[in-house]
Amino acid sequence: MASSTLTRRGLLRGVGTATVVTSCVRKPNDGKSDHPPITNVHTPAEIGPEPTSVSFTLDGKPAIVQVEPRVTLLEALRLDLDVTGPKLVCDRGACGACTVMVDGVPRNACMMLAHDVAGANVTTVAALGTPEALSELQAAFVRHDALQCGFCTSGMLVSCAALLQRRGPTRNKLTAEEVEDAIAGNLCRCGTYPHVVAAVLETAGAPPPTSRRGEA
Ligand code: FES
Ligand code: FES
Repeated sequence: MASSTLTRRGLLRGVGTATVVTSCVRKPNDGKSDHPPITNVHTPAEIGPEPTSVSFTLDGKPAIVQVEPRVTLLEALRLDLDVTGPKLVCDRGACGACTVMVDGVPRNACMMLAHDVAGANVTTVAALGTPEALSELQAAFVRHDALQCGFCTSGMLVSCAALLQRRGPTRNKLTAEEVEDAIAGNLCRCGTYPHVVAAVLETAGAPPPTSRRGEA
């Protein structure tokens, strides 16, 4: 077949490329956009490839690490600061075992660079309570059997603690669906989800979940 002939595969490839290019190119401001013009664009200071120090607040205390720009927050926590509450499981943002709060928002630490949290407040499961003095939420997890192997538990606790913080004084209005949404990124291969939901609702002072088909 002559090279100038349009094949089905060639057409699809061309359309796909055009779509990607079109969606990546910023449209010119035609004055009709709902979005205000971006005015605070700045070029970040260049760092690396050598280790550079980054400081932030970790579980309420100042922390500083000396890491290359490619190092993830999870690596910096576990390997440089010996903070092993956030777990390394998938290392690609799929399981939530590494969840920490960054300025109160649950984030996958494996998907952030350590340098991205410069000046931020990072909270791990270690800040929620201690073995001798469990937080209300941790105690509820124990009462409700909300953990089995425990590998997802630290990330699960951080996501749930962030939800309770977000709801503040209205947390007693929490519903099971809201808790399920909050832990949607936390995978538990032991299937503890209904127990986690019950523990969070009890901690929040919200009505307990209504049992569903197939659940105890
Ligand atoms: S280890 Fe970060 S999401 Fe799985
Ligand atoms: S308790 Fe085992 S993965 Fe959740």
